[in-house]
Amino acid sequence: MRKKLAAGNWKMNGLRESLQEIKTLSEVAVKASCEVLICPPATLVQSMTSISNDIIVGGQDCHADASGAHTGDISAAMLADCGAQYVILGHSERREDHGETDELVREKTRTAWSNGLTAIVCVGESLAQREASNTIDIIGGQLAASIPDNATGENLVVAYEPVWAIGTGLTPTLDQIGEVHDFIRMRLERRFGEGVGRSVRLLYGGSMNPKNAADIAAVSNVDGGLVGGASLKAADFSQVIAALS
Ligand code: PGA
Repeated sequence: MRKKLAAGNWKMNGLRESLQEIKTLSEVAVKASCEVLICPPATLVQSMTSISNDIIVGGQDCHADASGAHTGDISAAMLADCGAQYVILGHSERREDHGETDELVREKTRTAWSNGLTAIVCVGESLAQREASNTIDIIGGQLAASIPDNATGENLVVAYEPVWAIGTGLTPTLDQIGEVHDFIRMRLERRFGEGVGRSVRLLYGGSMNPKNAADIAAVSNVDGGLVGGASLKAADFSQVIAALS
């Protein structure tokens, strides 16, 4: 049985005062039957882990190298050292803003694994790719090239995030979400074997909110959500957690 995961991606939002939201969220998380994860900016990882035992904390990116001369970057070991257990890798904003390729995402995932972090590897098509009926091909290519060998249900989570749905208020239909999630499941089973393929959790991300979370969570092979805007306020994210519980 895959335990559902409610993952909040705060992106470049959040100051120390935002930790107040975590105190409120903690009270919800302790009663929830799903896992609750928040990926705050790196500046808040340490303090977030120290104020709640009920919320799991993750990073939003890490460098592919273990350490070295990479000004401004953060290593997987640093995240783990601060108490992070997860790291988001290959988010479309990293792929777009920083030119990250599938190969780089694969390297980062390896480094995350060597430091005991679970990687949330993101895949997703652009609007032009969907309109050209290339969604499945694009997702298949990203999965093959972004995920290293040796994936397990513990070290990997895959997030399907259509680029055109992120921060736009648009979402695919439930059928479209189901089609992609079934395809991802099939590909993981084929590559890693049925046992592993079935144990990896698949998140949907892109304008998930209190209104649509329950319907999306009921789609086959949706094991949770990666939520941006609606994770910033405890009042909203609590409702997403309830929909996933
Ligand atoms: P959104 O972002 O929920 O604000 O659309 C999701 C994400 O990018 O992870």
